[in-house]
Amino acid sequence: MSYEAKSFDHLLGIEGLSDGMLNNHFGLYAGYVANTNKLVEELGKYQVEGLTADPQYAELKRRFGWEFDGMRLHELYFGNLTKEKAEFSEDSILGIQIKKDFGSSENWQKEYLATGAMRGIGWVVLYFDFFAQKLFNVWIGEHDGGHLAGAFPILVMDVFEHAYILDYGTKKADYISAFMKIIDWKVLNDRYDWATKISEVKPAGIDHFGCRC
Ligand SMILES: [Fe+2]
Repeated sequence: MSYEAKSFDHLLGIEGLSDGMLNNHFGLYAGYVANTNKLVEELGKYQVEGLTADPQYAELKRRFGWEFDGMRLHELYFGNLTKEKAEFSEDSILGIQIKKDFGSSENWQKEYLATGAMRGIGWVVLYFDFFAQKLFNVWIGEHDGGHLAGAFPILVMDVFEHAYILDYGTKKADYISAFMKIIDWKVLNDRYDWATKISEVKPAGIDHFGCRC
């Protein structure tokens, strides 16, 4: 089995992100897919040949999370953008959870924007910890660093320079503001719905940690 790069060409022409920048970004994403497949294959060879104590195996193994997360985060990022107007609703199931955890959608957005405005390159992810039924805005410094174990990504924003510098120069705030206008809130609501359903699926008498307490 190998991963296949998904097409996000339907986003071409979207408000706030030029086709040139998007096409470059799609190419970069395809590179992560190709490298993920390459690493799966290479690691498999080391395993078959019994060379798992080789330092090169360890380096490839460490690299895997970076390539895989680079692939998956881009899919989630492109997947939560839309050319249609899909606006936020406070009455949606996600809207209700946002209000519960942040007090208001304005508070949530303020914190999400502040996280995106942090110096450095990375990602901003609205995560749902379905173990505790709680949302967090999280900074991911590298593709594979800073994730909340077991939490479900609801909204993903790329704040690597390649995501905006071609169109916005160093004005990251302008890019973030444009990004906020093209979020597909229907997709976000569906992701949240999915996450809550996962949290409901558990064997009777046992929690997600295997605890029978
Ligand atoms: Fe990116």
